[in-house]
Amino acid sequence: MSTSANGTGTAPLLARSVRDLREIIAQWRKDGASVGLVPTMGALHQGHMALVRVMQEKVDRTIVSIFVNPKQFGVDEDLDDYPRPLEDDLAQLASVKVDAAFVPEAEMIYPAGFSTIVSVSGLTNFMCGKERPGHFEGVATIVTKLLLQALPDAAIFGEKDYQQLLIIRQLVSDLDIPVEIYSAPIERESDGLAISSRNRYLSASDRRLAPALYATLQSIAKDAVENFNYRSLESRGIEALLEAGFEDVDYFEFRDAETLELALRSDQAKRLFAAAFIGGKRLIDNVAL
Ligand code: PAF
Repeated sequence: MSTSANGTGTAPLLARSVRDLREIIAQWRKDGASVGLVPTMGALHQGHMALVRVMQEKVDRTIVSIFVNPKQFGVDEDLDDYPRPLEDDLAQLASVKVDAAFVPEAEMIYPAGFSTIVSVSGLTNFMCGKERPGHFEGVATIVTKLLLQALPDAAIFGEKDYQQLLIIRQLVSDLDIPVEIYSAPIERESDGLAISSRNRYLSASDRRLAPALYATLQSIAKDAVENFNYRSLESRGIEALLEAGFEDVDYFEFRDAETLELALRSDQAKRLFAAAFIGGKRLIDNVAL
């Protein structure tokens, strides 16, 4: 792998428009460099930095996009409150020598008259697709746009949003987008809570309870090694979360690791997925079996 264009740890090149982005990438291409994209909504944390590290191993030049995508937020969701600490984000990217940051304005991504939606069927029928109507259309639309804007060799997505990862793999394959999709495991706090930009909104007492999500996933997944009655294990998981102080559980389900259909057999590769509310905040997590 060649050294980074940003070998000194100075600020990444900043692209505020698709034109800037393409100019930067065209120069890299001229130099024979391979290019990787790490799409984010900003409010960068250790989880994003892990994605950056993996990408830097795979390609010569890494670009991080920062865009809070309005199309993936439901009407009652937290679009307006979503954190946007741009300066801090850029400083973090400089500290890990990311080569460029793409930070477009919403009006540029979705100008007046924008009328295309990318919709992936099948994988979107369950879990977050069912509970957050329109969410994955918003994700699929922005990711398709980012991939076509940057035309990178590779892009990476975290396993915390495992359903999102599978949907992106599907759309890339269906639309013949020439990009390699990588994934990285979930980054966790020392108490097991999956790291997320939204964790900062948990009250101190909810933050203390929140690791129960991962602990419950782990304990029910462990039971599933010998007990194949997945539906009854799921009910036990939901009860355990409610007892731990979660006020509602959207889903707690064993699902096939590729199709996301409900898991039925012990010999199938599967994951256990959960989404639950604490203090009005929705947390998601999953574990492999
Ligand atoms: O996972 C995210 O942060 C977002 O869904 C993504 C992939 C950047 C699209 O907005």
